[in-house]
Amino acid sequence: MGGPGSGKSIFGIQYLYKGATEYGEPGIYVTLEETPQKIRRNILSFGWNLKELEEQRKIVIVDAVSHRIQETELDHEILKKGLDVENMIVNLEDAIKDIGAKRLVLDSLSVMGMYTETDFDMRTKLLRLSGSLATHDITTLVITEAQSEDVGTTVFPPETFMFDGVLTLRLDTDSQERRISIRKMRGTKHVIGAYRFEITDDGIQVIP
Ligand SMILES: Nc1ncnc2c1ncn2[C@@H]1O[C@H](COP(=O)(O)OP(=O)(O)OP(=O)(O)O)[C@@H](O)[C@H]1O
Ligand SMILES: [Mg+2]
Repeated sequence: MGGPGSGKSIFGIQYLYKGATEYGEPGIYVTLEETPQKIRRNILSFGWNLKELEEQRKIVIVDAVSHRIQETELDHEILKKGLDVENMIVNLEDAIKDIGAKRLVLDSLSVMGMYTETDFDMRTKLLRLSGSLATHDITTLVITEAQSEDVGTTVFPPETFMFDGVLTLRLDTDSQERRISIRKMRGTKHVIGAYRFEITDDGIQVIP
């Protein structure tokens, strides 16, 4: 989780890109925000060719929202009904089996929240999704927008307790430095601290 421009999407895509190119782990990127075209274009600035990996079936981008909105030109009924999570789950299960995915990124939970009417509705959808993903041998990174600078230090959104791990990305307003922390990682001994990182031509680099 992190504020706007903190590097969440780049972190997510880098996780999939490195998985596909260096660890033999295919991955799926579910976008509720930017279009696949825009993601492919932006990420080319790091020299990462997603198109190539998509053709090799090592990465799949699932566009969970924008095609429906384009088709209906912001049809109010569709927006009111919200995101069709059941349909999304079916698509994801197909894609996971299809490429043998080991990694999944959902970008983002906060946008998913915009398509749900109530907290109850949101929780139900999340539980359905996590229940379905739990049946696969897959690690899911869920990106979420931080509502406050202190998120992960003094402020914790309710969903924090649902996940096995929480990473926070921050761009400090005063020092203009980027910092990454592990807030929790169940079952793992991990470092504690806010580590500086930079977004370079090669993507995210943590400064030890
Ligand atoms: N090629 C690049 N080289 C260096 N820095 C870059 C490059 N491309 C993007 N950035 C930095 O990364 C930021 C965007 O990162 P990213 O899209 O991952 O943020 P985000 O946390 O997903 O934001 P949002 O909440 O708006 O989706 C830009 O604001 C810019 O500072
Ligand atoms: Mg983003």
